[in-house]
Amino acid sequence: MTITKDTVGVGFVGAGDISVLHAKAVARCPGAKLVGLWNRGQDRARQRAAEFGCKNYPTPEALVADPAVDVVFVLTNLESHLEYTALALAAGKHVLVEKPVGASVAEIEEMKRAAAAGNLVVMPGHNYVYESSMMRTRELVEGGDLGKIVSAYVMYNIHHPEEVAKRYPGVVRQILTHHSYILLYLVGRPVELCAMKATLHYQEYPEEDIAMVQMRLANGALAHFCASFAADDHAADPWTVMVKVIGTAGSTRYSYRDHVEIKPGLVHSQTYTAYQGSVMNEVRHLLVDCLRHGAKPLSTLDDAITAQRMIEAAEESIRNRSVVTL
Ligand SMILES: NC(=O)c1ccc[n+]([C@@H]2O[C@H](COP(=O)([O-])OP(=O)(O)OC[C@H]3O[C@@H](n4cnc5c(N)ncnc54)[C@H](O)[C@@H]3O)[C@@H](O)[C@H]2O)c1
Repeated sequence: MTITKDTVGVGFVGAGDISVLHAKAVARCPGAKLVGLWNRGQDRARQRAAEFGCKNYPTPEALVADPAVDVVFVLTNLESHLEYTALALAAGKHVLVEKPVGASVAEIEEMKRAAAAGNLVVMPGHNYVYESSMMRTRELVEGGDLGKIVSAYVMYNIHHPEEVAKRYPGVVRQILTHHSYILLYLVGRPVELCAMKATLHYQEYPEEDIAMVQMRLANGALAHFCASFAADDHAADPWTVMVKVIGTAGSTRYSYRDHVEIKPGLVHSQTYTAYQGSVMNEVRHLLVDCLRHGAKPLSTLDDAITAQRMIEAAEESIRNRSVVTL
């Protein structure tokens, strides 16, 4: 179902940190407008509505019922993603839902069924795949230009203070979800994995601040993930966010360090321009390519389901100290 009216109206459910990036992305997207937001806490709702120059709805029901809203961005915590996605779909609205999309495979499958029943788009907030360097890597892999793929690495080392980390699950769910959909997009799914985690810098928060995963992919290649909130990497050519694919005939890399602004970026010590940039590309892909021109998201709810299976397999591996078959 494509949108033909002049302006695509967007409504935000949730106005936390990530809404700042989405507001800028909508403002920069041609033919789109942020109509309004709803946030559970009214202080923040008023502040962000003033900052973004949009309405402040009294309830999420009022937001989804507004005919000026065509697309709802679900930007709340993981535990409430299904509730607000279902509410928006029932009102006939398309949805962008932040990652991790759901707390379980069953939740994401429920979103998929509801979207199909209403002929509506639910796009997961899998922002990293909307970077041009990621798309080029996928083209090279698909075209066979890198030869036989032998390995893939997704590394993330960004210090998060404990106060910030407490708002999220541990890094397995919060960060390895990004790694999982990136791997699926670039080189495909793993057939087995094993994982480890540790808590190295939190004083009170009991969740992990570092986790690593080793995988065997369907074609026999090996892959590695690292996700850490425990420390920044300050060395030369740092692995702040680094993605590598290595094949027998070539290799590629994506790095957050290609564009850095010397000012704090939300909870990061510096501004990694790619973070905002990837959200801008993602939002433009949904609002223009998908909803105006009928394209399919580069990463779908099926990918979110597979990513969730990978996360649950990593949790099982950590729990049982085992290698898990997917
Ligand atoms: N794509 C990315 O790179 C990226 C980065 C950061 C966060 N996220 C995701 O975005 C979402 C929000 O993260 P954030 O950093 O903005 O967090 P945040 O803590 O800054 O904001 C979360 C907002 O959700 C609201 N909220 C929490 N539970 C709720 C509930 N049950 N019902 C209604 N509202 C509720 C809070 O009031 C708050 O305003 C999370 O799912 C997170 O994983 C994605």
